[in-house]
Amino acid sequence: MDDKLIEHAKLYVEQLFSGEFSGHDYFHTLRVFNTALRIAEKEGADRQVVALAALLHDADDPKLFPETAGKLSHARDFLAEHHVEPAAAEQICHIIGEVSFAGTGAVVPNSIEGKCVQDADRLDAIGAIGIARAFAYGGNHRRLMHHPDIPPKLQMTVEEYRNHKGTTVNHFYEKLLKLKALMNTDTGRSIADERDAFMRAFLWEFLEEWDGLR
Ligand code: ADP
Ligand code: NI
Repeated sequence: MDDKLIEHAKLYVEQLFSGEFSGHDYFHTLRVFNTALRIAEKEGADRQVVALAALLHDADDPKLFPETAGKLSHARDFLAEHHVEPAAAEQICHIIGEVSFAGTGAVVPNSIEGKCVQDADRLDAIGAIGIARAFAYGGNHRRLMHHPDIPPKLQMTVEEYRNHKGTTVNHFYEKLLKLKALMNTDTGRSIADERDAFMRAFLWEFLEEWDGLR
């Protein structure tokens, strides 16, 4: 792996995300990078492709960068400026496209490298970090942590998912507890198993405390 190129990519996304607190910040990208490489090593995937796709996976997120999202201009320009081979650059951009579908209408990536990055992105939404991100998101969107009379909506269209005003606890049932089953790789699945168990333990404790039982 070209360590210098990876350092440049880290600096590039750090600048790109400066001042971003929406949950798609630089540190999210860095966690996805670390987890994706950990998965890639076990799965025998191309580490350089995984590293660059992970670092650039949110660089053209439509919510943050609507002007560049269509063409993935940030990712493409970075790769071209750093003389990444056109075939590798194309593969990286293809993976970014697959991963950014991850929210609702998910796509199964067709390469092992894409599978590593998508698993890592989803893993960042579960476990201790996932819990923290969910409550941070809820606070930002002025949502209640929990309301005992609002049940989770388990089946939603893409539109409903984007617009409904649920609680943060319901988000666990509506999305986060479903992610374990969507893992692509055995390595991702085994990390997800532990993180999922931690979230379930957290929810159990939360609801017990809510009712004054613990
Ligand atoms: P995605 O595009 O993968 O759906 P989002 O931008 O919606 O990701 O979410 C970023 C982070 O915010 C994730 O950790 C996600 O779990 C969390 N999040 C998204 N929607 C909600 C919600 N309705 N309530 C609580 N957390 C949320
Ligand atoms: Ni992401």
